Amino acid sequence: MAIKIANVALLGLGNLGAQIAAQAAACGYQVWGYDPDPEIFHKTLEGFMSIDQSKVRTTPIKVDLWPRAAKLVKICSSLAEACAQADLVIEVVPENLDIKLQVWAEMDQAAPGHAIFATNSSSMPVSKVEDATGRPEKVLNMHFYRPELGQNMADVMGGTQTSAEVMEAGRSFVASLDVIPLKVLKESLGFCFNRVWRAIKRETLHMWAQGIVDFRDVDRAYMIFNNTAWGPFGLMDAVGLDVVYDIEMVYYNESGDPRDHPPQALKDKVEAGELGAKSGQGFYSYPEPEYQDPDFLNP
Ligand SMILES: NC(=O)c1ccc[n+]([C@@H]2O[C@H](COP(=O)([O-])OP(=O)(O)OC[C@H]3O[C@@H](n4cnc5c(N)ncnc54)[C@H](O)[C@@H]3O)[C@@H](O)[C@H]2O)c1
Repeated sequence: MAIKIANVALLGLGNLGAQIAAQAAACGYQVWGYDPDPEIFHKTLEGFMSIDQSKVRTTPIKVDLWPRAAKLVKICSSLAEACAQADLVIEVVPENLDIKLQVWAEMDQAAPGHAIFATNSSSMPVSKVEDATGRPEKVLNMHFYRPELGQNMADVMGGTQTSAEVMEAGRSFVASLDVIPLKVLKESLGFCFNRVWRAIKRETLHMWAQGIVDFRDVDRAYMIFNNTAWGPFGLMDAVGLDVVYDIEMVYYNESGDPRDHPPQALKDKVEAGELGAKSGQGFYSYPEPEYQDPDFLNP
């Protein structure tokens, strides 16, 4: 019988957690949220309200519904309260294995036995945390991309023991949020699209660091070829160069292959405080990066 999801708990209400919570509430789920910072949910969502959706090329997430939906999200004062009635718990806490293991163990104690657990981790397969629970057949990766950028999709991937019913429940939950589910059939570092994106990052970073190309030409070519508003370097600036470096190190630590090690030139930028859009300087200068100039593609 299909698994029924009505009550959803979001643990962590920062950048990704706040948006998933608002979108789930807008789509009719009863949403419970917990973050040690009780202000973060509304503060984070406010930041996304000013985004110009007309610039988003893929199906836009309906941020106009979020203010009303946000009022329906029950902000709880503890993780246990948020999980108490959950059919699905989505963990969206920082990308740190120790924090995640701690939270997963607490989720296991607090949530009903039937509840499914998902992590929104950008790089960790769920098998890294499944043993922190007594329900390894009910866990999955549910990796949402950046809704505010119109990246309206989510990888859905199981761990070593995830049941077919739980995979299907995860896929259909994602689809019910008007988000495109990308089903990963076999556990893999990088999921579905992140693995593709990761190969692009690795190649383009090394091409730039070895002085083979100007990064602007890579972005130009990518934007023309794929008809996108961003190239890889513009997108890495949006993600944050410190975050990109850390994620590349996860891949390197897993493979031990020197070709997977991010270039020193990227580390130098991070150490110089050039973190991308959030610090005002990355590959481009902000708030008006060159690649958004109408003449950028035809200089
Ligand atoms: N930012 C991105 O582009 C992006 C994209 C996809 C996935 N992710 C993943 O989503 C997760 C969260 O990333 P983010 O960008 O939203 O981070 P964030 O820092 O904006 O939010 C994390 C939140 O977790 C809260 N938190 C810390 N400890 C907690 C605990 N014990 N219980 C509940 N909440 C706790 C923090 O207070 C913070 O508000 C990470 O695993 C990240 O890899 C991020």
